Amino acid sequence: MKAAFIIGDPIKHSRSPLIHSYWIKKYGLDASYEATHVIPSALSEFEATIRNGGFEGGNVTLPHKQAIIRHADTVSETARAIGAANTIIWDRNSQTIHADNTDAYGFTANLDSEAPAWRKGKSALVLGAGGAARAIIYALVQAGFQTIMIANRTRESAVDLALMAPDNCRIVAWDTPSDAVATADLIINTTSLGMIGQPSLELSLSRTKQSAIVTDIVYAPLETSLLAEAKARGLTSVDGLGMLLHQAVPGFQEWFGIRPDVDAGLRDHIVSDLTRPA
Ligand code: ATR
Repeated sequence: MKAAFIIGDPIKHSRSPLIHSYWIKKYGLDASYEATHVIPSALSEFEATIRNGGFEGGNVTLPHKQAIIRHADTVSETARAIGAANTIIWDRNSQTIHADNTDAYGFTANLDSEAPAWRKGKSALVLGAGGAARAIIYALVQAGFQTIMIANRTRESAVDLALMAPDNCRIVAWDTPSDAVATADLIINTTSLGMIGQPSLELSLSRTKQSAIVTDIVYAPLETSLLAEAKARGLTSVDGLGMLLHQAVPGFQEWFGIRPDVDAGLRDHIVSDLTRPA
């Protein structure tokens, strides 16, 4: 039997086991995907577990996405550029740990599937400057966005993030991003605002271009107030669940040898978990 893991701290909330078990069942594989709670001081111990060869690889979530890079033998160019990894592959032949990042791929694949016109965009507004924003800036640069405006509550983090692509990025004020809202072809919320239990993101879309696409990385709730406003204004909106589903594809393929589909059944499966009473 082939096995994969997900580690994080906390780990209980992760939907990745639901995603991968859905695919394991769908493709009739003799495989498993198990969640393990690993605290930061136990990461080296977990590295030894990987090297024991019981897993094909796995996923790494918060707070280990940056630290895991130091435990890998090889690191993909994408993970290196983003400075974080979410996918680990144990190479049985060379007995080495490879670290990759599929968050940028997940972001891109979700938009390709839900709003393919996003590729015509030239200018993007990124709200937030945390770990998720790094992957998204990387994806935007790869997709050829010429202007990437970053607005973040803590300006220094935005300045730091802009160093990823100094020619493309510029900083806009968190409190008054309205000119940026008016010129952006793509608006992305990468902050935790709008998530269940968090305040909502206060951003007026009254000046947004009618052709603009609005997307959120928050997927609980599926329709954040930002996406609801976009929809009410007749703009194309794309929820954050698709990014989560698509980022899981490359790992599954590497570990289990089948490229899985992000199908309606998978989406329904996760949505029913998200909307299940606690
Ligand atoms: P992730 O890795 O998921 O991106 P993170 O690194 O903790 O998570 O980043 C969270 C983002 O949400 C940051 O941009 C953060 O802004 P700060 O850099 O100012 O902390 C943003 N964020 C979280 N709570 C916020 C709030 N109440 N108001 C504004 N921004 C907030």
